[in-house]
Amino acid sequence: MKSKLQIWHPFTPAADPLPIHVKRAEGVYLHTEDGRRIIDGISSWWVNLHGHGHPAIVAAIAEQAARIDHVLLAGFTNDTVEELATRLRTVLPPELKHIFFSDDGSTAVEVALKIAVQYWKNTGRPEKAGIVALEHAYHGDTVGAMSVGDDSGFTESFTSLLFPIHRVYSAYCYRCPVGKVRATCHVDCTEKLRRLLEEKHNEIAAVIVEPLLQGAGGMIVHPVEFLQRVRQMCTDFGVLLIDDEVLTGFGRCGRMFAGEIAGVVPDLMCISKGLTGGVLPMAATVCTDEIHAAFQGEESSRTFYHGHSYTGNPIAAAAAVASLKIFKSEPAFERIASIAEIHRERLAAVREHPAVGDVRSIGTVAAIELKAEDPGYFSKLRPKLYNFFIDRGVLLRPLGNVIYILPPYVITSAELNFIHDRIAEALDFCAGSTIAPGGS
Ligand SMILES: Cc1ncc(COP(=O)(O)O)c(C=O)c1O
Repeated sequence: MKSKLQIWHPFTPAADPLPIHVKRAEGVYLHTEDGRRIIDGISSWWVNLHGHGHPAIVAAIAEQAARIDHVLLAGFTNDTVEELATRLRTVLPPELKHIFFSDDGSTAVEVALKIAVQYWKNTGRPEKAGIVALEHAYHGDTVGAMSVGDDSGFTESFTSLLFPIHRVYSAYCYRCPVGKVRATCHVDCTEKLRRLLEEKHNEIAAVIVEPLLQGAGGMIVHPVEFLQRVRQMCTDFGVLLIDDEVLTGFGRCGRMFAGEIAGVVPDLMCISKGLTGGVLPMAATVCTDEIHAAFQGEESSRTFYHGHSYTGNPIAAAAAVASLKIFKSEPAFERIASIAEIHRERLAAVREHPAVGDVRSIGTVAAIELKAEDPGYFSKLRPKLYNFFIDRGVLLRPLGNVIYILPPYVITSAELNFIHDRIAEALDFCAGSTIAPGGS
């Protein structure tokens, strides 16, 4: 029956249940054709910030569509995209002044990688073309983004397409790659990066990281010292730092950008997901004066020859402007702080549960790593947990044995506690089920 579906759904194995038909989305709720109301506990793949159907964003889109729908951004500009750039500069670190628009998180990453490599070519160091990325990284599904993402079941069919990169440790403290414990370690996991840069910095263009939170790799929260150390090493060895803030940006981790929490400014930053409030696709790669300057000059070989048909789409830009205004007109950061507080309390209450291996949170993101015989995205727990939550009116998509909540900022404390209550039930379900957790 599934094979008759006309839409080929993303990340959807053939064995998954038929898709749920949504008729209306409002606030934190998805209203389905069969009369159910499902809480969107993952902000529809980590994009929605201010709730579905926010009237200010809806109005901005309608007004923009009537005025200018889409015009190309090569050789043209328009008021809306200019206003967006100006507003973005008020929230971005002041060092990141130049904004290259694209369409989604993966393309923002592709752009960052290409800018980094061409930067060194344009400045007379073409041999600096290598890229360093972290274990457990996820940066998207296009070929360049997959190359910097860690190897996984997502990428195994495409290894012949991927370009080689250097892989270094992530600060995955629960499964420390160098066998330390966080309370007494000195972020020794960064030593592999130091050794690599000492030896090969002359061949390396950039290090790419998901700052403080590796999302699809398992909602792995890094100590701030890890990001600070990586920044320092990049500076010391003359290598660019790319922060992929596609997930973490726009308040998700408690500040506008995760790098702020660590006091770290990268050379290039990728933003997308929450940029439009999670309503329309749009992305940007932003960079410093120094990088931008390397692309100026008479010779055409200096130009960055990259662009997409919908680059800087004015309707998406109008949604993004409206979303940034909502950060000022509504208490978004107070909401974020109260979500973070509830997460901390509720995670503390389940930390010692026999099914729980680790709990992690940062800002609006809470994660519980379950003990499992088969840890990782393809854990048997994933489909069982997904169905368990859907049956109880909650949309959560566990990353294998990692259950996480990543809600729109407008979720109320009652709604958020409702989700945590369902997770507490799921833990008992796991502890008592035939797939009883084992291993670590
Ligand atoms: C950190 C990070 N980078 C890049 C991407 C890719 O974004 P998109 O799915 O919009 O291409 C994602 C998507 O989840 C992400 O989490």
